[in-house]
Amino acid sequence: MTKNAQETKAQRVERLKRSKNPWEALEEIRRFAREGFESIPPEWLGTYFRWWGVYTQGDGAGVTGGQNGEGRALQCFMVRIRIPNGLLRSEQLRIIADLTRRYAHGIADITVRQNIQLHWVTIEALPDLLEALAKVGLNTTGSCGDVTRNVTGCPVAGVDADEICDASPIALAASRMLAGNGDFYNLPRKFKISIAGCRVWCPYPEINDIGLTATTRVLRGTPEVGFSLRVAGGLSTDPHLGVRLNAFVRWHQVLPAILGIAELFRDSEVLREHRERARLKFLFLQQGWTAESFLEELQRRIGFQFDPAVEELPPADVYRDHVGIHPQKQPGHCYVGAAVLRGRITAEQMHAAADLADRFAAGELRTTNMQNLLIVNVPRFNTESLAKELDAIGLRVGGSPFYRGTIACSGTEFCKLAITETKSFSRWLVEELDERLPGFDQHLKLHVTGCPNSCGQHWIADIGIDGKKMKVDGRLVDAYYFCLGGALGLHQGTARPVGYRCPATEVPEAIERLLRQYLATRQAGENLRRFFARHTDTKLREFLAGAPVEAVSRDVPAVSIGGALTQSAGGDGD
Ligand code: HEM
Ligand code: SF4
Repeated sequence: MTKNAQETKAQRVERLKRSKNPWEALEEIRRFAREGFESIPPEWLGTYFRWWGVYTQGDGAGVTGGQNGEGRALQCFMVRIRIPNGLLRSEQLRIIADLTRRYAHGIADITVRQNIQLHWVTIEALPDLLEALAKVGLNTTGSCGDVTRNVTGCPVAGVDADEICDASPIALAASRMLAGNGDFYNLPRKFKISIAGCRVWCPYPEINDIGLTATTRVLRGTPEVGFSLRVAGGLSTDPHLGVRLNAFVRWHQVLPAILGIAELFRDSEVLREHRERARLKFLFLQQGWTAESFLEELQRRIGFQFDPAVEELPPADVYRDHVGIHPQKQPGHCYVGAAVLRGRITAEQMHAAADLADRFAAGELRTTNMQNLLIVNVPRFNTESLAKELDAIGLRVGGSPFYRGTIACSGTEFCKLAITETKSFSRWLVEELDERLPGFDQHLKLHVTGCPNSCGQHWIADIGIDGKKMKVDGRLVDAYYFCLGGALGLHQGTARPVGYRCPATEVPEAIERLLRQYLATRQAGENLRRFFARHTDTKLREFLAGAPVEAVSRDVPAVSIGGALTQSAGGDGD
């Protein structure tokens, strides 16, 4: 056996990272483009490309079609365009639309980290695509790989009538500080930052490695805006909500704090031993770290002490998708939010949205972590016309709670780790629920995820469904396992796996039964979250199934078909 054959996956990736900073190797990508797909070595396909937001696209069969927990890939790529804080100008969206039409079969996905992801991109197209993006100030640097991912923030930063502060300048500064910075190209694994100046924490700081939320203290009679600091949040197969540190982070301390945490993460050698346990959260989950020891180590590194945290009230209202017409803090102006069903948007829709943003407003758009698109700074007298035009191009400024509340990950259409198809399924599910429960009167988050990795964030949804396979009449079919009652903010908690699983085709029926129970038996003013909290797993399972049923375990043993497993490795896809 050669030395390399004995390497673990983690050792191999660590060796590759040590030997090259992919951000310094753009020339190699240009060469691959000239010489064709066959010239690309495996270390680029499996590792280095990700630093450029580029990763191989599955062949449509997901994990089932491959081996060792990973499906087969096509000779083309997914490309994630980084949109810090979701801030986007019309000329940028127009370029993305052009590139989508030219290189990505005319469709793109708005993601839960406010990015826009393209698919079907060939190696020949890649240099042109990267250059075209750079010309309008966009890039893909670090939207994938073991680096700082897109820094997310409140999509209505700067216009929200109720915000504590506009934190987007800090989010952008953090992004500039880390994306493409050679000192941080080699982290143990991905590193996610979210900074919210709003009161509702809509970019989900709790599920990031660093979550900063604006808060106010009064010091010697003067109010001062600063931030609460949470660290080590993350979802995936081992969800862990961020741990709040006893720190009031003053405005000018934010970037040093972020830098210090990034260094602490980078230098945590122990995390580099297993790819599946390499996120910051594993310092807490496995290495015995606590809020106190983390803060102490952070302060030692940055060389100053934070003032103690102030009391804060996490938001009780966990639902805000920004859809609809909302007054801004700027008098006479509104923002208009359109629901993009499961984030799927066409080149034509992006072009049209960019044109509408110019025609009716100042050409400023925002992407949201609920996979939606907003146009901001719209003079009030333009809002109705704009909303009509958005509706006309299929970007609904409204829609049922199901239409607005459903998000989905990539699924088998493009993802090599996927167990189920998610995007078409979600559209069908929404149509079904709209028909079955017309006029349903509660907002809800319905999150569809194609495997346990939770890119569709099923852990924080009211109803989170997690893709599985099931045998029905001897045939292997897509199925979903139900997790209920996830929430962030004041009532934070990951969704409860309630032991119910059914074929994908039966999901609408199961959700209908559950929600009809809710409608029929809810107490006065009781929202879904409280309803789920009031019932045991057994009861909720019964509501879903329509009769008492035994619990099934969430992680069904992988089924082997033709040498491939129907269980993703849960590890290292993006
Ligand atoms: C090839 C496989 C994969 C694909 C196609 C994929 C796709 C995506 C996409 C499109 C997003 C949206 C966010 C963004 O723009 O960055 C995302 C987010 C996410 N991914 Fe993946 N992913 C893959 C593998 C993985 C793996 C292996 C894990 C965990 C071990 C994972 C965990 C997550 C989580 C937790 C999020 C939620 C976003 C958040 O933290 O706010 N993904 N993924
Ligand atoms: S959750 Fe699974 S199926 Fe969905 S994109 Fe992530 S890795 Fe792929």
